[in-house]
Amino acid sequence: MTVRKTSGAPAARTWLVTGGAGFIGSNFVHLLFAQEPNARVRVLDKLTYSANLKNLQLFRGRKNFQFIKGDICDARAVARAMAGADVVVNFAAETAVDRSIDDPHTFLRTDVEGVHTLLQQARKEPQLKRFIQISTDEVYGQIKRGSFYENSELRPRNPYAAAKAGGDRLAYSFFATYGLPVIITRASNNYGPRAYLEKMIPLFVTNLLDGQKVPVYGAGLQIRDWLYVSDHCRAVHMLVDRGVSGEVYNVGGGQECTNISLVRRMLKLMQRDERSIKFVQDRPGHDFRYSLDCSKLQRLGWRPEHNLRSGLRSTIDWYSANEDWWRPVKANMERRFFTGYWGRKR
Ligand code: NAD
Ligand code: TYD
Repeated sequence: MTVRKTSGAPAARTWLVTGGAGFIGSNFVHLLFAQEPNARVRVLDKLTYSANLKNLQLFRGRKNFQFIKGDICDARAVARAMAGADVVVNFAAETAVDRSIDDPHTFLRTDVEGVHTLLQQARKEPQLKRFIQISTDEVYGQIKRGSFYENSELRPRNPYAAAKAGGDRLAYSFFATYGLPVIITRASNNYGPRAYLEKMIPLFVTNLLDGQKVPVYGAGLQIRDWLYVSDHCRAVHMLVDRGVSGEVYNVGGGQECTNISLVRRMLKLMQRDERSIKFVQDRPGHDFRYSLDCSKLQRLGWRPEHNLRSGLRSTIDWYSANEDWWRPVKANMERRFFTGYWGRKR
């Protein structure tokens, strides 16, 4: 098979967005309909614990939107969902580092085998012009100084990161071997509306709204680069047409911060003090710092629109205004994680 190149964007394309009921996938569907109102959008999602159909309720009943409940490891469900698609964006994944420490196998299944199932079906779709594999900066492992480039060595250090590295390289191999028009993105830590509450920012914001303490791992000296979710989604949407097949693109917010200084910014914005912090047992194998060089993406014209100040403000505002979204999620989490790692750290 020869490499298929993307030409100019046709008027109404058919999109398959896997994992579209989750945090970033649902934000992507919102952006997609805002940018391409006539696009035909299918979401394939298994509806795991982190999914929420409320994330897509705006599009229910819309003629050009279809939700399919299914597993990306299920070849039949994938064949049905991908039939005739012009673009596939694979957000579906097991995504929580802490869970991967307790249960690596579930991560191998979805984040490697699921990617394989999607790629095999993609080979049977001759009209497909783009396959985006959403990877992560965690595949590089940690870095003390400087930043990772797209050609830096991959040294993942936790089971989530290792499984994502497997999916990332498998996607590349389908470009190199079969000429599939694959692009791989590696984004830094996302935050913003509709994130499941096990990740640091949504957990801490909702705890503080509830007058509860926030559990900081270790001394909170680890560094993350924070990317507002709509900036990530804009990058992915742009790469569908402007990216080059077989290439990897880093997507970072350029907002590096230690966990403890991030917490202090949140406390200030939410009018709380240091008494809201609870230092808890550190994560095993906790990556110290992530940092991305994004000049390759920037050369295509992308810049983040949000810095940490504006992004945190709008995230706090969203959770403050959407208690009906997060309160049921939190109540369910409390029941499920009363024991195990989540119980120990509370
Ligand atoms: P999320 O957990 O909120 O959403 C994941 C979605 O995938 C859920 O809707 C879930 O039901 C679905 N899913 C899981 N297993 C599936 C399966 N086997 N078949 C079909 N659907 C399945 O995660 P997110 O934060 O939105 O992450 C989306 C993608 O972005 C993931 O690939 C993740 O690795 C990547 N990523 C996330 C971040 C971040 O900070 N959240 C950063 C970089 C990259
Ligand atoms: P997280 O949101 O889980 O993302 P990732 O592990 O993919 O970076 O964690 C972000 C940082 O916050 C990470 O250094 C771990 C830390 N953290 C805490 O200190 N307490 C918490 O309760 C959580 C969930 C994370």
